[in-house]
Amino acid sequence: MGTLPGVLPAILLGWLLTSIPGDLGANPGMVARITDKGLEYAAREGLLALQSELHRITLPDFTGDVKIPHFGRGRYEFHSLNIHSCELLSSVLGPLPGQGLSFTISDSSIRVQGRWKVRKSFMRLQGSFDLDVKGVTISVNLQLGSEPSGRPTVTATSCSTHIHDVEVDISGDLGWLLNLFHNHIESKFRRTLESKICEMIQKSVTSDLQPYLQTLPVTTEIDSFAGIDYRLTEAPRATAQRLDVMLKGEIFNLNHRSPVTFFAPVMSLPEEHNQMVYFAISDYVFNTASLVYHEAGYLNFSITDDMIPPDSTIRLTTKSFRGFAPRLARLYPNMNLELQGAMVSAPLLNFSAGNLSLAPQMEIEGFVLQSSSSKELVFQLSVATNMSAALTFNASKITGFLMPGKVRVELKESKVGVFNVELLEALLNYYILNILYPKVNDKLAKGFLLPLLKRIQLYDLVLQIHKDFLFLGANIQYMRV
Ligand SMILES: *[C@@H]1O[C@H](CO)[C@@H](O)[C@H](O)[C@H]1NC(C)=O
Ligand SMILES: *[C@@H]1O[C@H](CO)[C@@H](O)[C@H](O)[C@H]1NC(C)=O
Ligand SMILES: *[C@@H]1O[C@H](CO)[C@@H](O)[C@H](O)[C@H]1NC(C)=O
Ligand SMILES: *[C@@H]1O[C@H](CO)[C@@H](O)[C@H](O)[C@H]1NC(C)=O
Ligand SMILES: *[C@@H]1O[C@H](CO)[C@@H](O)[C@H](O)[C@H]1NC(C)=O
Repeated sequence: MGTLPGVLPAILLGWLLTSIPGDLGANPGMVARITDKGLEYAAREGLLALQSELHRITLPDFTGDVKIPHFGRGRYEFHSLNIHSCELLSSVLGPLPGQGLSFTISDSSIRVQGRWKVRKSFMRLQGSFDLDVKGVTISVNLQLGSEPSGRPTVTATSCSTHIHDVEVDISGDLGWLLNLFHNHIESKFRRTLESKICEMIQKSVTSDLQPYLQTLPVTTEIDSFAGIDYRLTEAPRATAQRLDVMLKGEIFNLNHRSPVTFFAPVMSLPEEHNQMVYFAISDYVFNTASLVYHEAGYLNFSITDDMIPPDSTIRLTTKSFRGFAPRLARLYPNMNLELQGAMVSAPLLNFSAGNLSLAPQMEIEGFVLQSSSSKELVFQLSVATNMSAALTFNASKITGFLMPGKVRVELKESKVGVFNVELLEALLNYYILNILYPKVNDKLAKGFLLPLLKRIQLYDLVLQIHKDFLFLGANIQYMRV
């Protein structure tokens, strides 16, 4: 019993540690940054969207009793109010640290048109009126988050609208009607419009903005067996001058996703803000891809004589190896050879300032094909090469291209005595250059899609290579529908 107090914390700790999701605290593989310039652009677009939404506000009628000079008490009605035009002039989207963003619209005016009616038994008066609503300020706090599926969320946590002044212009120029408006209706009208604007904003955040943000692709397929995971790893972070969105950025096997055993590096992003958005894409994204393709055997290969061009003097036959491996030719006369290659481990991409490189290590086994069903392992080679890579991106995709380096072959083991590997080096250089590279480059040319919201177009693209990550910058254009 005495050990219980000691064991309990250990059990709790163990439970705590195992119940923490595996990727808690792990770095994002990718960061999408919206700079002050991008926020300004978004604020302008938000303002335009709101401007057209405002027209949809319906305003109630205002009715009541009124004392009409010389006639006594009558009934008034201000009806058919509609927003005729609105001019929203300035908007700011600023950070709300720890929460999200604050959206403020100021210097705005709204024109409302309507009709009035006054009745007193046999007498009826009617006409139209114009309201010039001036000095409208709207301020909304938007809380940004992420749901368990990794999709971004937005909620309007507070909204306030303030109207500074209302000017009324009534046809017929009836002084008592003007007074009636100012004394009985104006403040009611103000309160109603103020709350209607906020109601409309709340509604449009829920039914337009939130679904729009959810168009962020959280997983997209790259090909028939690999996908990329763009889930948000945490709520977007708003700091002065920018909004950072942390994304998982992991490429995985669509059929069976296995956990990645390495972490994404910590990326220290440059302070640049010439463009509206930046994407920092760490080597993690590319290396998880390498892992997936490696595990699936995509990088395994087999070379047989029928794959060698007919006019080649080098053949994958024991005869052709006579001069280099005399015992091979003697022990296995007139037989074909097969080379089976595999990467020793998934090749990792090395990002260093300005350059991308790759140093894959391969192991190649040489078999003698004795008959269609039996092959005998006769030698093992280790092959090393350094290659460089180029990456580019356009308005929607990142694509890559590998540039070959020289291949160095070493004999690891031989069951047929020493032999000169020069011939094999030439053969492998031919194969790797003409078959393996084009195959991998084909795949890289297909590239993968950047995580973009619907109807966003990138232009003015820039690309920098930093240690451990790519840094892509772009301006954006929202294609209005
Ligand atoms: C690739 O080749 C290696 C070495 O021959 C082998 O161990 C591995 O199972 C192969 N992978 C696939 C998916 O075929
Ligand atoms: C990555 O590349 C840099 C520069 O090209 C080199 O100095 C460094 O050794 C490489 N790192 C690895 C792990 O290959
Ligand atoms: C980058 O690659 C170029 C061309 O391959 C080379 O000249 C340069 O030295 C490399 N830079 C670094 C930092 O490795
Ligand atoms: C690849 O580059 C590394 C470091 O630059 C070097 O040590 C190694 O010999 C190179 N390998 C080949 C096959 O050229
Ligand atoms: C971007 O590149 C991909 C792959 O090369 C290509 O299929 C696509 O058409 C390009 N898109 C644009 C907008 O240029």
